[in-house]
Amino acid sequence: MKRLYIVTAGESHGKGLTAVIEGFISGLPLEAEDINRELKRRQGGYGRSSRMQMEEDRAEFTAGIYKGITTGNPIAIFISNRDWREAGPVACPRPGHADLAGATKYDLNDIRPVIERASARETTARVAAGAVARRFLAEFGIAIHSHTISIGGVETSPQDDVKPIDWQQVESSPLRCADARAEKEMIAAIDAARVDGDTLGGVFEVVAHGVPVGLGSYAHWERRLDGIIAQAVMSIQGVKGVDIGSGFALSKVRGSQTHDAIVPNIDVDTGKPGGLPWRRLSNRAGGIEGGISNGEPLVVRAVIKPIATLAAPLPSIDLHSGEAIKAHYERSDISVVPAAGVVAEAMLAIALAEACLDKFGGDSLRETMANYHNYLGNISLWQ
Ligand SMILES: Cc1cc2nc3c(=O)[nH]c(=O)nc-3n(C[C@H](O)[C@H](O)[C@H](O)COP(=O)(O)O)c2cc1C
Repeated sequence: MKRLYIVTAGESHGKGLTAVIEGFISGLPLEAEDINRELKRRQGGYGRSSRMQMEEDRAEFTAGIYKGITTGNPIAIFISNRDWREAGPVACPRPGHADLAGATKYDLNDIRPVIERASARETTARVAAGAVARRFLAEFGIAIHSHTISIGGVETSPQDDVKPIDWQQVESSPLRCADARAEKEMIAAIDAARVDGDTLGGVFEVVAHGVPVGLGSYAHWERRLDGIIAQAVMSIQGVKGVDIGSGFALSKVRGSQTHDAIVPNIDVDTGKPGGLPWRRLSNRAGGIEGGISNGEPLVVRAVIKPIATLAAPLPSIDLHSGEAIKAHYERSDISVVPAAGVVAEAMLAIALAEACLDKFGGDSLRETMANYHNYLGNISLWQ
């Protein structure tokens, strides 16, 4: 059974969203601001709908925190919807959404309940839970970032390995893009799609720095960290592909250009805590080998499809009459690649928090961190 269990509840135009986190440690200082900061990041991005200006997502802890510190009890977080209203019935399914299959599966004669729950508004609750995980991971020195790689076929220039991404610049960019030239073209592409009543998808990358070697396991398929991360990111609404490290690009290169040479870490004696006696000359594996983190940054990329709600809708049918009509349309984003990156940060944080609890155990922060430092202290060459 999983150590950390996260449930979300709530509808797009319901009273609000709830995240419940069960199995978490006690002793972690946690403020609403830790959550609100992440909720705000999720709401950003050029190409979003007016809904994002209307909502100002704020978290309220309703359980599991006492005097600003986690207690070990289940944590409950509530985020209210400003756009709370009874939205009207829908009979015409939108291709690319859960509408048709969802109404059929649950034997509904109105698509509205499907739209309300399948909506990515649910990711607000995921980001709230992810913010708790993120706060926990900060204790290990793990930091997670995301940036946009492409939108509507406009790609950033290949990343120069020696020049690390300026994450501050990414945070201030409207598309969370590190390449100003590409960003300009992406904005133009979004504007053009908007004029045509169309939408765009793209690729984002999520990077976790400071991940210790040894999370996950090769011993059983369910414990492989790459599989766990792929599931977590693939579960985001609209994500259609996930790769780790060089991923799909590996189909075009040889083994010698695929793997990451291991060399002695001559800096290990300089006293940097957590320093390993070895290092890698590259990180094409994206920080995971054999389903286990190898101490290098985790690098995950994913493609999110063009938004399925089109202002110029595709053909569909009225489920009452069977008549051919255009699909239902309601206010929608044009492109959500940067926001999807922020949601993926949350999902990666949840996956890594679970992996840390699995590896280091403990019921309180103090116990977990003592186990962690003990483990790090035991890593050495076999001398
Ligand atoms: C942050 C975020 C915002 C989204 N906003 C919209 C939206 O405004 N309109 C829409 O049709 N789809 C939106 N989507 C995508 C849909 O929720 C998703 O395509 C749909 O639920 C069907 O799921 P699937 O694409 O995984 O099959 C969004 C996705 C994310 C991650």
